[in-house]
Amino acid sequence: MAFPNNDDYFSNTMKTQIIQLLKQSEGYLSGEEISRHFRISRAAIWKVIQELRKEGYVIEAVSNKGYTLNAVPDRLTSYEVQYGLKTSLMGKELLHYDTIGSTMEEAYRLAHDGAPEGMVVCAEEQTKGKGRMGRVWVSPKSKGIYMSVILRPKMTSTEAAKITLLSAVAVYEALKKCSHVDVQIKWPNDLIVQNQKLCGILTELNAEMERVRFVVVGIGLNVNTPLKMLPQHAVSLKTLTRKTYSRVEIMQEILRSLDKWYLRVMEDGFADILRQWKVACATIGKQIRIMENQTVLEGQAVDIDEYGGLIIRHQSGLITKRMTGDVIHAG
Ligand code: BTN
Repeated sequence: MAFPNNDDYFSNTMKTQIIQLLKQSEGYLSGEEISRHFRISRAAIWKVIQELRKEGYVIEAVSNKGYTLNAVPDRLTSYEVQYGLKTSLMGKELLHYDTIGSTMEEAYRLAHDGAPEGMVVCAEEQTKGKGRMGRVWVSPKSKGIYMSVILRPKMTSTEAAKITLLSAVAVYEALKKCSHVDVQIKWPNDLIVQNQKLCGILTELNAEMERVRFVVVGIGLNVNTPLKMLPQHAVSLKTLTRKTYSRVEIMQEILRSLDKWYLRVMEDGFADILRQWKVACATIGKQIRIMENQTVLEGQAVDIDEYGGLIIRHQSGLITKRMTGDVIHAG
């Protein structure tokens, strides 16, 4: 598996450990102490400190005292996101990019090459962010959370739609914890506030008839994105509340929530997720329009079934079900 090259690995491990030491130490940490701890030269430590400074860490160096950490950048690196994360699966392995085409493609390639379940690929910026139905996901630098998670659920491909519901519930729960916005789920897996899109989820599947090999769950969340960078009908936490949020904290909360629900579902089944999904859902009970083969179907969304299919009652009284599509809430 092409992951990651040795230099990156060494450098990331050093950064992780030096940051951990700096975060845990009260006052100053001497170069000598760090050098003894890692059994590497003070010059090598200085090099790592310089790299960290370039990434936005404010590390003060005072002669005869040592180093102290004064500020931490809001970057989604492994050494920030994994610090205090405490999940059992999600984000235990994390690959961070400054710029990437799409985290979906990289995660899919890694999963295909055998990457472990729970591995996360995230980026500060995507130049070819993918949305559902061939759309583009606008991913400006360091404004949102753009991440893909590799899962290997033991289930059939028919059941895999449930992973989408699970992911929407996990993000919903994380947003409730980290913000005060009145978020809801729009079928199948958009997170909306006042009918405007805050977060989108894309699931890609690699499966045989009887068995899922892996699923990649892509989450795009507009966090600190200013209005002028957002597409039409989209909002960010910042445009909604005029506050700036820690992307690291929100990403950690999403991973914790995903970890909790995924493990629960694998042990106890989907009943709890379906219940939660319905509590959070803005679509059920609404008059909706749904696009299908260039025609617009209208009706009332009455429920979702155990696989996440939307059950619609049409004006004629006919009841139909849709497994995928783009829904517009009409009233
Ligand atoms: C949607 O259209 O609602 C789904 C959007 C999913 C966007 C995320 S951002 C991280 C991951 N990488 C991508 O290219 N897309 C997904």
